[in-house]
Amino acid sequence: MVWAIMNFWHGGRRTALTFWKKGREKLIKNILLINGSPRAVDSNTILLSNSFLEGFHQVHSDAHIETILLKKCHIQPCRGCFSCWKNEPGKCVLEDDMSILLEKYLAADLVVWSFPLYHFGMPSMVKAFHERTLPLNLPFIERGADGSCTHPARNKRLCEKSHVIISSCGFSSTKNNYEALTKHLDRLHGNHYEKIYCAEGELLRIAQLSRVSGPYLEAVKQAGIEYARFGGISQETHAILETPMLEEEAYLEMANASWAMEGEKAADPYSNLKAYSFMRQMRASFNPEAGIGINAVLQISYSDLHESYQLLIKDNTCRLIVGTEYTPTTTIVTDYDTWVKISEGRLDGPQAMMQKKYRVSGDFGIMMVLDDLFGGRRAAVKQQTAAAEKTAQKKSKMVLFLLPWIVLWIVLPFHMLYAAMAALTGSCLIAAGGETKWDLTIYERINPLILAGVLSLVIFDLADLQILMAVSYFLFALIWLASIFVKIPLTAWYSRYIMGDKALSNSLFIKTNRILTILWGGVFVLTSIWTYYLWYTPWFSYSGLINQLGPILMGMFTAWFSKWYPARVARG
Ligand SMILES: Cc1cc2nc3c(=O)[nH]c(=O)nc-3n(C[C@H](O)[C@H](O)[C@H](O)COP(=O)(O)O)c2cc1C
Repeated sequence: MVWAIMNFWHGGRRTALTFWKKGREKLIKNILLINGSPRAVDSNTILLSNSFLEGFHQVHSDAHIETILLKKCHIQPCRGCFSCWKNEPGKCVLEDDMSILLEKYLAADLVVWSFPLYHFGMPSMVKAFHERTLPLNLPFIERGADGSCTHPARNKRLCEKSHVIISSCGFSSTKNNYEALTKHLDRLHGNHYEKIYCAEGELLRIAQLSRVSGPYLEAVKQAGIEYARFGGISQETHAILETPMLEEEAYLEMANASWAMEGEKAADPYSNLKAYSFMRQMRASFNPEAGIGINAVLQISYSDLHESYQLLIKDNTCRLIVGTEYTPTTTIVTDYDTWVKISEGRLDGPQAMMQKKYRVSGDFGIMMVLDDLFGGRRAAVKQQTAAAEKTAQKKSKMVLFLLPWIVLWIVLPFHMLYAAMAALTGSCLIAAGGETKWDLTIYERINPLILAGVLSLVIFDLADLQILMAVSYFLFALIWLASIFVKIPLTAWYSRYIMGDKALSNSLFIKTNRILTILWGGVFVLTSIWTYYLWYTPWFSYSGLINQLGPILMGMFTAWFSKWYPARVARG
């Protein structure tokens, strides 16, 4: 009996959940976005809401979305005459846009409310809209189990609606800021709503800080995707959305500086420098977590403006100096426009460097972490997630690609057939089973095909040991050389971890690896040639040593070149 009840409970619950999800998918066809910012299309909240809906639309491309800008609507305040309850039930006496808006509101399956926080609550336009929904309710008062009173809905569609609240505020935290609004929303929408509160909302519109706000908007889009899929936003995404974009101190400093009165501005000796406020923003977007262990003086000289600035990075702090007071560890010489475009993400940094649009001298290492250093708090969150993922993430290992070939070359002189079979078997095992533990590349996957070719040469007696050795080195070289014609050359797959997930989209990294892959391919072509020609000479006994020496020297060269070449390009 107990089992029967439990089975019913679990089974019933599962069915209810599935039904709820399916029902919701079917329900959300009509979305009404109601924006209540006086800035309307130029508002922070419309930017956030559009990102959310972009995510939603990615999942449900057939959903119909209509945007209402309350600023453009004529909505009078409620008169409190109760005519909509007494005289003409459900109809308001006021003649303005509200009658058509109420129809749209009723028809919507999901209402996305988008408005700034004003005086710890909703702006008056949004409040006026809510007050004018009185005709949608019945006059009777119902008391709920918790003792709270409500007016029942006149139309049951009102209760079936879902709500998402997207709001931005100007303070550095949502804490001690949004509590009153949340209480208000709880009473209005019960548990039928999701919310996104964005602190430091004013950063969203600063183009130079798009590296800071971009990832936030991406997270809002992700929230839209999740909402479309599951009818809610995951805890992980909520955690990201609740993390302010900038460190509180930096944000407050920046915000307060931007409000300085004219007199105060005049007192600031640097206020007439063109790049000064941009550099202050760059300093403000410093991410202390990424600065751990870095001790550097990064100098940026704007050649066209004849202005130089230094960012002193030490003990997780960053200080901005106007001028060239300290000896720089890294110097960037650029024109102002180029640097602004790079920091806004409108220009690819490594690409611009290769086109000699700016030069870097001194320690090049800091350039590799510049995005993390000046990416604000969000970069820190990304870094932490990336670090957590890194430990769990499967990696590509070059040894998996090399191993079957090493086996082949070691065993070949002893037994050609066993060598070819062992190499082929090894490569098949790696290609078939390696995926569970490692991130296999195309090269581990094509090894079996090429080694099957080597085995055929042995089986059909098409080559003696001398030819087989030379041919195998040549085939191996061909894999390297062929990879230079595709987007990501062979060495890049295995060395990408040094730079993290951005490496494969870094044009300088790819170019460096393309050169290295050509050189490695060349070494193996040469190995093939000298293996063949030394075979019947007195030098033959040294060929094994020479064949090992080549890759060892090339390995040392690779370690040096992968640092030297990017730095040389950077110097211009
Ligand atoms: C009249 C007024 C009142 C405001 N009240 C608050 C507030 O109580 N708390 C807060 O953090 N920000 C407050 N702000 C800042 C706005 O919420 C913030 O600038 C928001 O990002 C603007 O969004 P919007 O561009 O969508 O209008 C207020 C702004 C104005 C103009």
